[in-house]
Amino acid sequence: MINKIQELIKEVEKFSAKSIDEIENFRIKFLSKKNGIVTELFNEFKNIPADEKKEFGRVLNILKSNIQDKIEFLKLNTEEDNQKSKIQLDLSLPGDSVNLGSRHPISIVRNEIIEIFTRLGFTISEGPEIEDDYHVFSALNFPEEHPARDMQDTFFIEQNPDVLLRTHTSSVQVRVMDNEKPPIRTISPGRVFRNEAISARAHCIFHQIEGLYIDKNVSFADLKQTLLYFAKELFGEKTQIRLRPSYFPFTEPSAEMDISCSLCGGKGCNVCKYTGWLEILGCGMVDPNVLESNNIDSKVYTGFAFGMGIERIAMLKYGVKDLRMYFENDIRFLQQFQ
Ligand code: DAH
Repeated sequence: MINKIQELIKEVEKFSAKSIDEIENFRIKFLSKKNGIVTELFNEFKNIPADEKKEFGRVLNILKSNIQDKIEFLKLNTEEDNQKSKIQLDLSLPGDSVNLGSRHPISIVRNEIIEIFTRLGFTISEGPEIEDDYHVFSALNFPEEHPARDMQDTFFIEQNPDVLLRTHTSSVQVRVMDNEKPPIRTISPGRVFRNEAISARAHCIFHQIEGLYIDKNVSFADLKQTLLYFAKELFGEKTQIRLRPSYFPFTEPSAEMDISCSLCGGKGCNVCKYTGWLEILGCGMVDPNVLESNNIDSKVYTGFAFGMGIERIAMLKYGVKDLRMYFENDIRFLQQFQ
């Protein structure tokens, strides 16, 4: 009996068919519920001596599954052949459209800002995202234990509090001053990190662009004029700026810059909270302490610096109301920026 099944296994292996009919006949011959060969062999099972039952069952199951595989295989092949012969090329049909990607709004705004400053002769410099206390705080005139360090909720590395994620791109100023001699005119775009609860207006990861200009006779008037040019280029010719006194450890005097609201033109709307002004960056004259601790003679050189958040500027430019959208990568959102 077992030999007979093995013969059948060989027969199945050799079998081939060109049409669906042939395959169907093959199926009926072996698997038909009424009198298919396999069905009948299963009926024989009760007559097999007990010590052969196990082997008989094993071989019979192999036969059954080989038949099923064979049928699947032959069906697939004949279907493919049928389809191939049906396909006729119509060369006049329009091609499939290719979906092009688009730039992320943060990249678009970053590139625009970079372009504006490179037109003014600024170079681009970059620094590491994983930084140390010296470059992020100490060299920027943040005294040890000074509350100003609390302004920026820092992510520290547990094993070594000297290693941290940079909270601002001002750290790149320090690296540039380390490596270059004045005159220095550079901007530093990059990612920064702060331990903030994520909301519509705050995120633990965002992007900044830092600017630094050091030379002889650089004055606050130069800072103001540079930023006015920048604001007009980015937000339109009618844009006005105003500087409000502020505090940053690394600049003295320090200021925050507002632009006239680009949405209502300064008349007052809910975006500018009816003030007509929108805050967009921090700036100031580089503190002499910062110049000195970076080996630049503060009696010979002066400089200005500024720093801005790219997300905030992109929100104002595009009217995006929720910061989280920049990080969700929802294609319906991203597609709107070209
Ligand atoms: N680093 C500041 C921040 O993250 C921004 C800033 C303010 C940068 C004033 C500057 C500056 O260079 O002069 O809030």
